[in-house]
Amino acid sequence: METIENDATENDATGNDATEHKATRTLGRSGIEVSALGFGCWAIGGEWWGADGQPYGWGKVDDEESVRAIRRALDLGVTFFDTADNYGTGHSERLLGRALGKRRDDVVIATKWGNLFDESTRTAGGQDDSPAHARRALTASLERLGTDHIDLYQFHMNDGDPERAAELRELCEEFVREGLIRAYGWSTDDAERAAVFAEGPHCTAVQHAMNLLQDAPEIVALCEELNLASVNRSPLAMGLLTGKHSAGKALEAGDIRSAPPAWLPGFTEGTGADADWLERVESLRDILTSEDRTLTQGALAWLWARSPRTVPIPGFRSVAQAEENAGALAKGPLTPEQMAEVDRVLGR
Ligand SMILES: NC(=O)c1ccc[n+]([C@@H]2O[C@H](COP(=O)([O-])OP(=O)(O)OC[C@H]3O[C@@H](n4cnc5c(N)ncnc54)[C@H](OP(=O)(O)O)[C@@H]3O)[C@@H](O)[C@H]2O)c1
Repeated sequence: METIENDATENDATGNDATEHKATRTLGRSGIEVSALGFGCWAIGGEWWGADGQPYGWGKVDDEESVRAIRRALDLGVTFFDTADNYGTGHSERLLGRALGKRRDDVVIATKWGNLFDESTRTAGGQDDSPAHARRALTASLERLGTDHIDLYQFHMNDGDPERAAELRELCEEFVREGLIRAYGWSTDDAERAAVFAEGPHCTAVQHAMNLLQDAPEIVALCEELNLASVNRSPLAMGLLTGKHSAGKALEAGDIRSAPPAWLPGFTEGTGADADWLERVESLRDILTSEDRTLTQGALAWLWARSPRTVPIPGFRSVAQAEENAGALAKGPLTPEQMAEVDRVLGR
């Protein structure tokens, strides 16, 4: 297996040498080693809804297939799994805990808190940024995951109040002292908010949206400056970068992309994937599918080349997707020339 180097070496100041890759990366200043690819566990939570009937899940999923996919990923060297307490209103955490079983200590588990939900009705709504809720949520996540500690605990309020976050940061330090978590981070697309959390010594990551059509230069710069992992959500632009969508084809009801909220770009209610996004993906096909990569693998390769701090966490819901995504590890990042070509094609 080729490897994806993370930290700078004598030979390569960027850590992205195309010939000598390491399949692992270090999760920021925590020193925790993870596979360079994490697996995002939102979709496998199954269907759940907002109080207004808005779908928050990705449609129906087959739990047994999800378990097989997680175990296949483990066999292929994936050691990092990202979930959240509200994905499937607790179902994603339960399923991940079940699939890992005795192999829990072989992996690094990231989960999140801050959103409110009801497991019995599979509905969600509202948020709670109080310290009391954080402690309750952590206890509940530990129980659902069947573990005594969370490796990376993430604050799941993208636009949370920075003053309150400073208080939660100190609470997370307390959780570390109590042995309940190893490290923490903020799931936010705002670099200023991320910097508030980064003042805590055990803050080690920012989770934020990034893919080759949606760059995030401010957060990446912050991660490089402060030695934080840039954990990339929506690395496949919620499936757009896999090449399997076509314009004008509505997605199934129950899939959040069928009735996308304002923060979800690239899809429109009733017509599915947007034509202009698909055109941009097509314009990049040749570069991304070089060296026998699939389009999906090329999108992940772009993220690894973007910074030595990135760890993409693509979602999945089948063994086939797990195999294709994990297969990207062996192929490593795009070259600097290919990165420049992507920018040229996209006119940036
Ligand atoms: N912190 C936050 O607020 C936040 C927000 C969003 C996501 N996340 C995290 O980030 C993870 C990933 O981001 P994302 O959910 O936005 O989506 P994404 O990773 O950009 O896209 C994932 C989706 O693409 C499709 N896919 C994946 N691999 C594929 C393959 N090899 N071939 C064809 N299709 C494939 C699957 O959907 P279909 O099969 O349905 O097409 C999959 O669910 C989530 O699971 C979650 O852990 C966090």
